[in-house]
Amino acid sequence: MTDTKKSQHGEWSSRFAFILAATGSAVGLGNIWKFPYITGENGGGAFVIIYLLCVLLIGIPIMMAETMLGRRSRQNPISTMITLADEAGADKNWHYLGWMGVAAGFLILSYYSVIAGWASAYVLKALTGSFFGADASAIKAIFDDFVASPVKLLFWHSLFMLATMLIVVRGVNTGLEKAVRFLMPSLFVLLILMVAYAMTTDSYDQGVKFLFTPDFSKLTGNGVLTAMGHAFFTLSLGMGAIMVYGSYLPKDVSISKTVFLIAGTDTVVALLAGVAIFPIVFASGLEPAAGPGLIFQTLPIAFGNMTGGWFFGVLFFVMLVFAALSSSISLIEPAVAWLVENKDMSREQACIWSGSITWLLGLGTIFSFNVWSEFKIFDRTIFQLLDYLTANLMLPIGGFCIAVFAGWIMKQQHTEHELDMPNALSYQTWQILTRYVAPAAVFLVFLHVVGVL
Ligand code: TRP
Repeated sequence: MTDTKKSQHGEWSSRFAFILAATGSAVGLGNIWKFPYITGENGGGAFVIIYLLCVLLIGIPIMMAETMLGRRSRQNPISTMITLADEAGADKNWHYLGWMGVAAGFLILSYYSVIAGWASAYVLKALTGSFFGADASAIKAIFDDFVASPVKLLFWHSLFMLATMLIVVRGVNTGLEKAVRFLMPSLFVLLILMVAYAMTTDSYDQGVKFLFTPDFSKLTGNGVLTAMGHAFFTLSLGMGAIMVYGSYLPKDVSISKTVFLIAGTDTVVALLAGVAIFPIVFASGLEPAAGPGLIFQTLPIAFGNMTGGWFFGVLFFVMLVFAALSSSISLIEPAVAWLVENKDMSREQACIWSGSITWLLGLGTIFSFNVWSEFKIFDRTIFQLLDYLTANLMLPIGGFCIAVFAGWIMKQQHTEHELDMPNALSYQTWQILTRYVAPAAVFLVFLHVVGVL
């Protein structure tokens, strides 16, 4: 393979386009919906610190590795692993990593789309003024009522999946670039506005303290695993999404600088969401551990009671849906790229196949919140099981393998050339993190959870 290999599936128009798309993939429900509720469930500050450490020491080096693998091979994740293993003279079995990624993408999107459906439904609720003047219990009733209806959830899930497929059919680097360009800054401004609102509640200090004052006695082994898994989830790592996006990346772009920018933005968005939400949680006497409904039970209280709340409420949920869309397309793109490049399908066929499978899988999550809420496997509903399996197991395992592959299997001259770091020290730092720190950390956390440590 030569270094000038062109991507078969086009290229981003610029470094900025890649940054937008990768940030679009990273920033999503993970930051605004998931981060606050898992932080609430795991006791706050200590969990946040572990999450931040994982982003820095595991997420960022692996994100660089994953981008690099994609850019070097310029193919979908499955073919990438075949080509690069071949180039390094390594075992063929590495391509199973690509397969696991494709599977993880389907599983994640199946529940991601259901939650994104909730956000879409909330656009309509905001539009029709449902939150106006409502207190915490009225807002909770709206939420409970909504998720109790499988038909409603199915409708919004179907709509969101359809929207995802329509974008993916056109190719990720056309329509999407434009949407994300306007979306990201607006979402940012809105979150700052929500933080400003949170400051007006009496519980601002309590919320901030909950987020940033660590109490390690509240953190369990599973909490540590959740924090680590979330570092992968929020950065879209471990399943080939960033690899596919990297495969569209022009050669002259600095991977390290770009990755720092994306990971930094992603982290700031999550922390802003936390600072906006927890003061409202405490001011309204809600439970931080309320679970997946947390943002839907808190933010509408703010929209229902602040000046201009109607406008900001509509805008906020619209932004959230867009943020979810720019993430969902990256969850399905590895599968679609593989079907198109290797199975001779047209983009339309590939989208219909993968979209239908995901849509069907989504039913499990929909029913987890109503008719099957008592149906548990390993003490978890289907939704909880899917979330645990993907975020806490598959993504860290995928990330572990990517780190080992980039750190140990690939030739140093290749990684050095691809990463093209500003100096030797930064390359060595990356190498130490990828070879030792990240794989060891994942391994130790797993040992800890199964009780060996
Ligand atoms: N990172 C996205 C979020 O925070 C979700 C996501 C998109 C994702 N692509 C991914 C998660 C790939 C894991 C793997 O909402």
